[in-house]
Amino acid sequence: MTSDDLRITYVPQMPSDGLVPDLTIVENAMMHTIVLGRHGMRRAISTKAKRDLCDALDRLGLHFLVDKLDMPPTALSGGEQQLLNLIGAMYAQPHLILCDEPTSKLDEQNRIRICSLLVTAAQETHCSVICASHDHEIVQRVADRVVSLENGRVTSEVALRIPLSPRFVGDVRICGLRSNLPAYLQDVDSNWWRPGEGQLFDEAYFRGDDSAEGYLVSRPLLRNARTLREVEGILRVLGLSGKERIADIPCGWGRHSIELAKRGFAVKGIDLSEAYIEKARNAARQADLAMRMEVLCGDMRKLPLSNASCDVVLNLWTSFGFFSREDDKLVLKEFARILKPGGRVLVHSDLNPERVKLGIFDEPPVRNIVGGGALEVREYYCEEERAVFGFWKVDTLASQHTFRLNIYTIRDWSALARDAGFKVESTCGSLDNSASLLTMRSQEFVIVLRKDNL
Ligand SMILES: C[S@@+](CC[C@H](N)C(=O)[O-])C[C@H]1O[C@@H](n2cnc3c(N)ncnc32)[C@H](O)[C@@H]1O
Repeated sequence: MTSDDLRITYVPQMPSDGLVPDLTIVENAMMHTIVLGRHGMRRAISTKAKRDLCDALDRLGLHFLVDKLDMPPTALSGGEQQLLNLIGAMYAQPHLILCDEPTSKLDEQNRIRICSLLVTAAQETHCSVICASHDHEIVQRVADRVVSLENGRVTSEVALRIPLSPRFVGDVRICGLRSNLPAYLQDVDSNWWRPGEGQLFDEAYFRGDDSAEGYLVSRPLLRNARTLREVEGILRVLGLSGKERIADIPCGWGRHSIELAKRGFAVKGIDLSEAYIEKARNAARQADLAMRMEVLCGDMRKLPLSNASCDVVLNLWTSFGFFSREDDKLVLKEFARILKPGGRVLVHSDLNPERVKLGIFDEPPVRNIVGGGALEVREYYCEEERAVFGFWKVDTLASQHTFRLNIYTIRDWSALARDAGFKVESTCGSLDNSASLLTMRSQEFVIVLRKDNL
């Protein structure tokens, strides 16, 4: 490519500097495209081009711009004008976008939007973005490489975070305030986790849980293969002998409990769903495991198990953080109560809090369910509530369920553990390798807590 072929667009520091007040919003959005000669003025603003722009705005969650396309840019706030500058710069499909302090004049909500959009620009249009900024947050959130300058001289150069390879990194989904979430997520029922007919933890979750793509984009496994991988990983991480008494809470329809009982462990499975418990009981009976495996219906905040009756508690597949933060503490206190002194809890999730806090989710948003139908899962991290909001939709059931999970960082876990009488024994970033460190790159989160002997 010669320098003549190189398409470069620019986003200025002052939002109004990038916009022509006499042109409409749509004309401003197309300006870079016209200047770079990709379209003449008439073609650029054809009905189709306008429709494409509306689709792109919808996809980027910037619906509020769609109704204003024929207005002048002065109808927008400073933050919205800056979004318009960036959209225009992206829309011309350049090789390089240069941004001069793009967030410096913006409020919190629009700073977060600009950060997400910068990552989307790099991922979707495969262009490079060079951003001059004093804003440390933008650096933390979006930069792959940081070059520090002092008096015009380079003082350091650091490769910062996970390369934004689309294969391993899903869409960036983050928002500051709950009120900025898509409308369908704003009023998630606080009892969304309650199992039962027509709820998420009924047929919808059971069906969607078994798909060709599985959960992690890097581990497309069907349910049975996933369960085997998880059980083997758990045994490796905990180094169990086979004699331990294990409580699997919540156990769902018993996929891990059954596998553990087959390997000789005495297992108690607890779940609030009567339907799932029934499935687990039937499976245990069919596999002739009823002697070694007992499943009970119960709430994880008030367990139907006696004090000091177990050696190990397993809390698997993102099953912590369902309730208010106070009730989440009750769950850990119950785990402490039923464990013998020195007993351990292993908590596993496919949400690594440090990645989630950057709005990175490593699951395929659309999956092909075994037996037919598609599952669609969309998740967002909301900074105001330190929680993930999402929906789980199975097309063949015509059902859409929303959920909300509190997110706990390692620091939060230390405090939670202390409060319930545990110490953090270890963490790990993948069930495939118990020695894998938990880092920003880890797509899984595993933490082991040991009950104090006191
Ligand atoms: C994400 S699933 C995980 C199930 C299982 N660990 C697995 O990996 O298949 C969460 C489970 O929590 C159960 N559940 C929801 N609220 C509960 C509560 N208050 N007490 C016990 N179980 C609950 C649901 O019925 C569901 O089976």
